[in-house]
Amino acid sequence: QKIVLAYSGGLDTSVILAWLKHTYDAEIITFTADIGQKDELDGLEAKALATGASKVYIDDLRDEFAKDFIYPMFQAGALYEGQYLLGTSIARPLIAKRMVEIARAEGATAIAHGATGKGNDQVRFELTAAALAPELEVIAPWRSEQFREEFPGRAEMIAYAEAHGIPVQASAAKPYSTDRNLLHISFESGILEDPWFDPSAESNKGMFVLSVAPEDAPDQPEYVELEFAQGDCTAINGVPVTPLEAMEKLNELGGKHGIGRVDMVENRFVGMKSRGVYETPGGTILFTAHRKMESITMDRDVMHLRDSLISKYASLVYNGFWFAPERLALQALVSESQKNVTGTVRLKLYKGNVIGAGVKSPVSLYNPNIATMEADPTQAYNQNDATGFIRLNALRLKVSSGVDQTK
Ligand code: ARG
Ligand code: SIN
Repeated sequence: QKIVLAYSGGLDTSVILAWLKHTYDAEIITFTADIGQKDELDGLEAKALATGASKVYIDDLRDEFAKDFIYPMFQAGALYEGQYLLGTSIARPLIAKRMVEIARAEGATAIAHGATGKGNDQVRFELTAAALAPELEVIAPWRSEQFREEFPGRAEMIAYAEAHGIPVQASAAKPYSTDRNLLHISFESGILEDPWFDPSAESNKGMFVLSVAPEDAPDQPEYVELEFAQGDCTAINGVPVTPLEAMEKLNELGGKHGIGRVDMVENRFVGMKSRGVYETPGGTILFTAHRKMESITMDRDVMHLRDSLISKYASLVYNGFWFAPERLALQALVSESQKNVTGTVRLKLYKGNVIGAGVKSPVSLYNPNIATMEADPTQAYNQNDATGFIRLNALRLKVSSGVDQTK
C-alpha cells in the first residue's frame, strides 16, 4: 500500500510519517506544497527521507495559488465574519488538489494529513478530496484513538522521534501554532487561547513575522498605485506584475507599514469558537484597493447583489467547499461582475492604515456632471423628478404611521 502524506517537516507530521509507515506497513510518499511559507522548506527532502519516506514531492505552487485561488477570492471581496481574509482556508483546497493528483499518479490508495479532529483544516482537506477523488481513503491520525493513546502529548512525540531516529529540531517550541503562506500567517492556540491576552503588547512583539507594529512603522506615509484589469491587480507603481509578484510586493509594502493585523475570536465550522491572530499585509492592501476600484466602475445593483453574497462565499471558502458546485456558480457571477473593474487606485500607507488617495478609470461610471452641486450642463438629472420619487417611496410609511399598530 502507498499513502501520500501532507508533510511539513514539523514534529507532528514527522511522527505521523513514521507511525503510518509502521502501523499500515505502507510506503509513505510525502508531499509538501511551496505556497510561500519561506524558510520552512529548507532541508525538507533529506529530512523526509531520513524519517522513512520512500519518495518526496516538494512542489512550487505559488503561482497557481496566487492566480487561481487568491485572485478569484479577492474578486469576490471575501471576508469571513467581517475580519478574516481566509489565508489558511484558501490554501487547503490547493494542497489537497495536488495531493490527490500525486496519489493517482503514484497509484496510492490513501492520503493522510496532520490536521486535528477539532479544526477546520481536516474538513477542507477531506471535502476537497471527496470532490476530486472520491475513491481515495483519507487517514487522519489525530482522529485515531490508537494514535492519540500513543501520543497524548508532545513529550511522547519527542520520545518517539528520538527512538526512531527522526531528526527533530531542538529549538524551543513556540507557545502558539502558526500557519504561513503567500497570503498570511496565522497564530492560534497556546497563550492565545485566553481572549484577554493582548497579542499586540510590547512583551509579545517577537511573535509577529510579516509586519511591524503600526506604532513602529515609518513616520512618513508611502504612496502606492495599483492598476486593475477586470478585477485583478496587474501592475504596481507602473510595473506589470504576475499575481505572485503582486502578493510579494504588497506583502513587503504592507509589512513595512504595519498593515493587516487582525485579532479575533472566530466560529469554526466544527462548532467551537477559536481565537486567531493574523497578519495579512499584502492581502489587506489588495482588498482595500479592489473595493475602491469597484466604487467607480461597478454598477450599483451588480455591486449590491455581489455584496449580498460575500458572507455566503466567505463561508464556503472557510468551510472547505471550494470545489463545490455552489462556489463555482457564485464564482461565475463574481467573474461577470468584474468585467468593468479596470483602472488605477492610489493609496497612502501609513502606520497600519490603507488610506484612499485617488481612483481613476477609462471605464468609470462616475459622472461628475450628474453628481455635481453646480449647474448640470447635460441636464441628465432633473431635480423635480425626485419629488415624485420620494412621494411614492413615502406612501406606505405615511399609511403605516397613521395606523395604531398596538391595537
Ligand atoms: N483559523 C484559521 C482558519 O481556520 C487558521 C487555521 C490555521 N491552521 C493551522 N493548521 N495552523 O482558516
Ligand atoms: C488544526 O486543528 O489542525 C488546526 C486548526 C484548524 O484546522 O482550524
